[in-house]
Amino acid sequence: MSIFGNTNRLVQETSLSFLSRRVLLAPMVGVTDLAFRQVVARLGCGLLFTEMVNARGLLAAPDPSRLLDLDPSEGLIGVQLAGSEPEVMAAAAVLAVKMGAKVIDLNMGCPSPRVVANGDGAALMRDPSRAVAIASAVIAAVGVPVTAKLRKGWEAGRASVVELGSRLVEAGVASLTVHGRAAKENYSVRADWDALKQVKESVPVPVIGNGDVFEPRDALRMLEQTGCDAVMIARGALGNPWLLSRAIALVENGELWPPPSMEERFLVALEHFELAVNSKGEQRAAVEMRKHLAWYVTNLPGGAKLRSALVRVTNLREVKDLLGSGSIRHLEEVNLGQRQFYAKQWAKGKSGLMES
Ligand SMILES: Cc1cc2nc3c(=O)[nH]c(=O)nc-3n(C[C@H](O)[C@H](O)[C@H](O)COP(=O)(O)O)c2cc1C
Repeated sequence: MSIFGNTNRLVQETSLSFLSRRVLLAPMVGVTDLAFRQVVARLGCGLLFTEMVNARGLLAAPDPSRLLDLDPSEGLIGVQLAGSEPEVMAAAAVLAVKMGAKVIDLNMGCPSPRVVANGDGAALMRDPSRAVAIASAVIAAVGVPVTAKLRKGWEAGRASVVELGSRLVEAGVASLTVHGRAAKENYSVRADWDALKQVKESVPVPVIGNGDVFEPRDALRMLEQTGCDAVMIARGALGNPWLLSRAIALVENGELWPPPSMEERFLVALEHFELAVNSKGEQRAAVEMRKHLAWYVTNLPGGAKLRSALVRVTNLREVKDLLGSGSIRHLEEVNLGQRQFYAKQWAKGKSGLMES
């Protein structure tokens, strides 16, 4: 039996099991480009999403393939579209499917003022009739599953996502992703997992929970507490693409894999950089990869100096020099120095205690 229980007509009819894994990578602007998706896919993951793409922008682009950044070797790839005009969204979805999208996701959660001012993204949480019209138009236009990513609601408080989610499912949406914060709430507010549970209990399609999964155990807890069918991870994957496969190992096989070693971190960071060079050229890759490189070494003891060098790289040679085996040795020496320092402090503290 499917872990997803009742699935709707579209999911049953499609030969593609688009929710093949119980942990998914979230769409993230400026992050989930081709190179990052390739890294996550290589480490092990199911469905991956592109960053949000504006539907009008896609249709007007001189070369839409550059904007979508899909590669034929990518397996299960979902394209997330943002927009509020049903016909435009439908036309953009048709184009995205032609270019390789296996799933179309409708963005109904982006709270950015620029996006909301156009009636797009999270503005649709306040405009359910328009949200349903968009879903219906896109579903009628494409033959792949159409999913929607929503917020808990517009304002803090009541979870209006339950009503909107049900209406979208009636219109034929194949699954719902729910980020457990209202559009007006920022990350300082904890994601409301009860809202995810409420949605799961009210619709007959797979529900994907999202918000505050930073460790494999968080993914398991979310599934257990909410009954959701799958978990979607965003910030936890920054500089930490292993989180997806580690969460899958725990959720699907009950195995808790250790975090990556420093060597593995450096190797994957370097590989990520090389993949970015392949897809966008060295100069652009260097600029766009700086934040990723910094994330990879965040929280490594002694990594601050390395981080400040990584955010200035201009080419592959520099990245290789910084992340080569010499740097690993250097960091280990720094760590050794720190350990010796703490050992001395501890010994001092202990002798102080004995003296008193
Ligand atoms: C850098 C960044 C970019 C994001 N871009 C998108 C986006 O393009 N589309 C979208 O639906 N959500 C986007 N989000 C929201 C995430 O997909 C996710 O819903 C949110 O961060 C909560 O999940 P988390 O607690 O795992 O981070 C973005 C979040 C971050 C941090």
